[in-house]
Amino acid sequence: MTALPNEVTFGGVCPLVGSLRVPGDKSLSHRAVMFAAVARGRSTIDGLATGEDVAATMAAFAQLGVRVKARPGGVSVTGAGFDGLRESDDVIDCGNSGTTIRLLSGLLCGRTFVSVLTGDKSLRSRPMARVAEPLRRMGAHIDGRDDGRLAPLTVRGGSLHGIEFDSPVASAQVKSAVLFAGLQASGTTVVVEPMRSRDHTERILGALGVPIVVDGNTVQIQRGEWDAFDVCVPADPSSAAFFVVGAAITPGSDLELIDVALNPTRIGFVDVLQRMGADIEVAETETRLGEPVGTIRVRHAPLRGTRIAGSEIPAVIDEIPALAIAAAFAEGVTEIRDAQELVVKESNRIGTIHQELTQLGVGCEPLDDGLVIRGGNPQPSALKSHGDHRIAMAGAIAANALDGESSVRGWRAVGSSYPEFHDHLAAVTRR
Ligand code: S3P
Repeated sequence: MTALPNEVTFGGVCPLVGSLRVPGDKSLSHRAVMFAAVARGRSTIDGLATGEDVAATMAAFAQLGVRVKARPGGVSVTGAGFDGLRESDDVIDCGNSGTTIRLLSGLLCGRTFVSVLTGDKSLRSRPMARVAEPLRRMGAHIDGRDDGRLAPLTVRGGSLHGIEFDSPVASAQVKSAVLFAGLQASGTTVVVEPMRSRDHTERILGALGVPIVVDGNTVQIQRGEWDAFDVCVPADPSSAAFFVVGAAITPGSDLELIDVALNPTRIGFVDVLQRMGADIEVAETETRLGEPVGTIRVRHAPLRGTRIAGSEIPAVIDEIPALAIAAAFAEGVTEIRDAQELVVKESNRIGTIHQELTQLGVGCEPLDDGLVIRGGNPQPSALKSHGDHRIAMAGAIAANALDGESSVRGWRAVGSSYPEFHDHLAAVTRR
């Protein structure tokens, strides 16, 4: 793949037209690789997310003795159960990926060897106590900087026992880490969340035939094993969201996103945009790995402000940078509340969204738990990614809808989830 430029420029209003399949879903790709790596036998995974985050997960399992091989259309992963994993002779670099480090912590803490997990500057500043604390309660030995609050983390696994864990945050990474540990523990492991977070881990386990009980926000699991599987990962709704918002705010647009994962815990952004007046149709066509899959069609329409808060937040948490751009182009005020988790994402997204909307000339007030955005009249500007892939792509869709020259600096950040983003935007905006 050619190196990404550090800056991209945009030169005027370009409608988004046609049909696009964005790369495979990042959350599902990490999980497909992880579940295949500890399955019995050779799995094949097609349509994986193309960014550095999932590459970091694959490299981690190669270090842990799993055979991960490229094949046309995807990879094959040959596992031999949890017992097939071997101690890595080096530190495992999770790059920018919170899902890699947190889920691996849970997966590795049942192994009798030592693993050292680290990442880039952003990942090394993100909270890890949220996984270290429940995993320690299950019997794992986890250490790290600041008493295990920050990576690098050392995970020395051993025999685990189930716990009942009342998670203080609605986080699929925390829930999945505890479930991966629970799959290797004696007794029953129960995770209770304050609100429902994305449920891919539960759906995959169900699709693989592993007994799991889900009741509202409570998930219950016991020790489990499964056989190898073959899957084609559906397209990433979080990546599609940038194109959906891009088309919604750019006059003349009519765009179809195909083969997209339509899990309700991921597509809350569609409900929010429809509430704002967006013209969006969703059609479910099939089920894959326990996930609904289908098409999202969006046409330009005038938007109005809305309130996004409460239990809706977990289903839109990664889409708030894109929704903030929709709010910037909408008439009236949008209020985002109960979204404190934005502060501990790839950047402090309350701060970085505030800075970039201000740069666009949009009235924006940062709050402890969200933002107030006074939409209406964004202006062409020089924008920045702050090292955060989603802030970069949010900047790009705003720039593409503005009459005049804009730029996004720090573009390389898109490499973590969607290196082809600029090429794909160019493909659907060619006039
Ligand atoms: C993810 C869970 C979410 C999300 C992240 C991916 C996952 O993080 O923001 O991009 O794949 O489990 P949290 O678990 O921190 O909410």
